[in-house]
This record gives sequence, structure tokens and C-alpha cells, in this order.
Amino acid sequence: EPSPARAVRGHLVTVVDDPDTAGEGALVEHPDGVILIEHGRISAVGDHGALADRIPPGTPVDDHRGRIVSAGFVDTHTHYPQTGIVGAHGTQLIDWLDTYAFPAELAFTDAEHAAAVARVFFDTILRAGTTTALSFGTSSASSVDAFFAESLRRGTRMIAGKVLMDRHAPAGLLDTAESGAADTEALIARWHGVGRNGYAVTPRFAPTSTPAQLAVAGELLARHPGVLLHTHLSENLAEIAWVRELFPDSDGYLDVYDRAGLVGDRSVFAHGVHLTDAELARMSHAGAAIAHCPTSNLFLGSGLFSLRRAADAGVRVALGTDIGGGTSFSMLRTMGAAYEIAQLDGVSLDAPRLLYLATLGGGRALGLGDRIGSLEVGKEADLAVLDPEATELLAYRSARTSSLEELLFVLGTLADDRATAATYVAGHPAYLRD
Ligand code: GUN
Ligand code: ZN
Repeated sequence: EPSPARAVRGHLVTVVDDPDTAGEGALVEHPDGVILIEHGRISAVGDHGALADRIPPGTPVDDHRGRIVSAGFVDTHTHYPQTGIVGAHGTQLIDWLDTYAFPAELAFTDAEHAAAVARVFFDTILRAGTTTALSFGTSSASSVDAFFAESLRRGTRMIAGKVLMDRHAPAGLLDTAESGAADTEALIARWHGVGRNGYAVTPRFAPTSTPAQLAVAGELLARHPGVLLHTHLSENLAEIAWVRELFPDSDGYLDVYDRAGLVGDRSVFAHGVHLTDAELARMSHAGAAIAHCPTSNLFLGSGLFSLRRAADAGVRVALGTDIGGGTSFSMLRTMGAAYEIAQLDGVSLDAPRLLYLATLGGGRALGLGDRIGSLEVGKEADLAVLDPEATELLAYRSARTSSLEELLFVLGTLADDRATAATYVAGHPAYLRD
């Protein structure tokens, strides 16, 4: 249906390819640039001076000069049902699930509770400039209905799925291989391709699914060519030892998923902190992606992911917040944490690389690299507008930068959701700070 045209003017900054392979040309900026948006997509982008003539008379022009206009951020791993347990004290993964995550998820059989948490989650990510997320639901189908209904209302491009979990969790959270498959089929029919929503088959992780349920997940993935596979992998050493006990015949954690047909180019694995070289090589060959979740890996004491090892193996990597194991909804904070972890690995990530991981790299990890993640003609107009003067410290520090890369890097280390001046979803303002 026709939607009014709009133009957004500001300091356009985008990464249009992987800086590791494309080099200098990957980062594109227009210090006084404009994006013309028609029918929710970018129809022109470039210098304001060159494009002003192409803006149809009467088109509203949102003036964000002095601010950075980026593609909206892409969070490749999060749990919207864990919004209320962010920052919970004292435990590592397995205890944390029992103490905090599972009790919180039990409440999502109540559709009104699920809808209320979905509203808070969407308000919070849009305030942080995130316009696409790949999220876990809970094992309750109503959790996924609530998430996709909220996404439809907001017009966002989102991917989610019902958790498949038929063992090693409270009885109220368990499904069966059969009921999990039936619920998943029904949710795919109800939501996949509805608005901008997409579905991900979502076994929680190997320890909470029987081999029979993992096999069913593989069948669902094979039957539905457009859906993703979303799960956790090699996050924590105790978890990995448990997987070895539960699946004695498998040749390691990744192989448990591989035997079920779950390792392919539509697969997104959260964490992958402790993968072997052979596992990284297998993921690279299969085209699978890793969602690196730095704030979660630190907060839950899981370990230090090596972006260098993954990149050397040719594995696609993007960034995830992993709310509520992660501590921030902000992809800027997540970029900062990724930088800090890489420092401990002897690698200093530069600003173009960090921005790529949080935008186009995320879009590519989700199979959406042709639709979102950069400011290019034909892409969906999901935008984050960042204010380098959002706080007194940011303003003071930003004034002391002498290049775009330096300014971007400072945003990644000092900024958070307070720096989001506006967020656009398919060309419409979805959040305005002032
Ligand atoms: N592994 C299995 N479930 C979870 C979860 O909810 N959060 C994290 N971080 N890891 C998991
Ligand atoms: Zn997670």
C-alpha cells in the first residue's frame, strides 16, 4: 500500500561490506547526506547537495544534521522473555538457568504477561536503536504469538521461535518431540512471512532436548526452506561436559547438532566460546553463523570468545546481546564489550569492523543481508540516529576526536541508549528521544 515519502538528513555512516575482506571501501559516509525513503525502502542515498533536487516537493525532511544516521542495529541473539531478569546476581550458566531463567519463563503461558513483556522489550530495543533481533521465546506458543503480534504492530523485521525443550527443565516448561513439532508447525503457518516476521526453529540447547526432539527440529528445518535454526553452542565448560555425558556417541557438541541435520547456512549458534578448530572448520564449511555475545560471556563467566579464531576459520560472526544473560540492550555497549574481549586476545578491532558486526554482519548472519544492515538503495529503511552530544561527557569527548573512525569508536565505548536520538522502522519514526 502507498506510504508517504520521507527524507532523513544527517551525517550518514554505513558499512556496505565486510571490512576484513573489502578494506577501506567498506565504510561509507556522507557528512551532509540525505536518505530518500519511499514505501518503507531507501530509494536514494547520498550527498544532500547532489540529491536535493530528487526530493519530491512536499516531502517531509527530518533534519538530523550534527547526528550520525546509521542502519538500525541487528541483535543476532536475545531472549525477550528474560527482559525482567537482566543483571541477576551470583551464578554461572546452569545454575543461572535454574535460579532465574526458568522461573521467569514459566509465566509466559499467560498471554497478557507475554504481551506486557513484549511491549517493554520492543520499547527498550527501539530506544537503543535496534531494529531487528533474533529472539528466543519460551516453550509456550503464546510467548511467540505475543512477540510477533507486537512486531506486526510496530512494523519491525524480527525473527523468533518457540523453545523446544523436552527434558532437564521444570515440568511446566517441557514439551514433547511431538507437541513441540506441532506447535512449531502452527506458529510457522501463523507468523512466518506475516508482516516482516520470520520464524526460527529453536531447540534451547542440546542438554534440554532428547535426540528424538533434535531430529524433529532437523526435519522442521528441512521442510521449511525460509526458516532459521537458532540455538546455543559451547557457551560454558560445565555445559560442554554435560553434553559429553548425555551424548556419549557424538564427536563433541557441534556434532550433536550435526547428526540431527541442524548445522547449515541457515543456522545461528549463540556463543561458541569453546569450539575446537575442527568444529570451527565444520561450521565454516556448512556456512553456519555464530552470535558472539560479549556482555553475557563476561557476566556469566562463560569465557572469552576469539573472533580471530573464528575469522581465521572463515566462520561468519555477528553480535548478540543475549538478554538476560547479557547486561545491556545496547548494541553500542555490545560493540564496546566485543572490543575489550578482543583486546585480551591481542586484537584491536577498529570502528568499521565493530559497526559491521552490529549492522550488516548481523543482517548477513540472519540471511537478510540483501534487505537490512546498510544504507543502500533498495534496502528497508530501518535507521538509528545517534547523537554524539547526548551526554556531557560524550559531547566533551566527541569534540576531541579528529576522524569519523575515532568518533564511531568513542560511541562504541562511551555511548548507550541515551545516544539514540531517533529510530526509524521501515521509514517511520518508531522512537523519538525529544
Ligand atoms: N543456554 C541454554 N539456555 C540459555 C539461556 O537462556 N541463556 C544463555 N545465555 N544460555 C543458554
Ligand atoms: Zn542465549
